[in-house]
Amino acid sequence: MTAPSRTAAGATGHPDIDEVLVTADEIAARVAGLGALISQDYAGREVLLVAVLKGAVMIMADLARAITVPSSMDFMAISSYGSSASSSGVVRILKDLDRSIEGRHVLVVEDVIDSGLTLSWLLRNLASRNPASLEVCALLRKRDSATPELLVRYVGFDIPSVFVVGYGLDYAEHYRNLPFIGTLSAAALARAEL
Ligand code: IMP
Ligand code: MG
Repeated sequence: MTAPSRTAAGATGHPDIDEVLVTADEIAARVAGLGALISQDYAGREVLLVAVLKGAVMIMADLARAITVPSSMDFMAISSYGSSASSSGVVRILKDLDRSIEGRHVLVVEDVIDSGLTLSWLLRNLASRNPASLEVCALLRKRDSATPELLVRYVGFDIPSVFVVGYGLDYAEHYRNLPFIGTLSAAALARAEL
């Protein structure tokens, strides 16, 4: 028998996860709440949900089902230049939106705002395409985000500035399918090939 810890592998269900920061139940409750709020705010309008691949796929799928106003979806894939550990704010579009957003009510759905540089770039890019409105819903926002002036209308959870995985978020493309959000063990961090 191993000594019990706060969130041992038995509790998290995954040996690589040190600590669960947000449980699957907490995510479900918050996403339902955000969906209700967004439905209220967009009453009488159609919202175009724009998710940033791949991290936002889980929140996109759940949030879209919690939104009751008419909606459609589009996806972008972007990659930041520079090291994988820190964001440079210099971004390249890997996959652009399929359709024009001119005159549409666009809600960007993001997984996490860390430095905020990626989102700043994205908002500038999308704003130049003349949407009727442009707002952001981020599942996670890290405290100490370098761009506090960034206007994010909907935030799921404010979390400490630690690296997290699960519910769409990856480390070297792994762990996206975990139903909760947690931190990686030092062993798992050292093991993964980046
Ligand atoms: P930012 O430009 O520093 O805000 O970086 C945002 C992007 O970096 C996110 O969309 C994620 O793809 C990635 N990222 C930032 N923090 C984490 C994390 O804790 N886990 C996994 N990916 C992260
Ligand atoms: Mg992302």
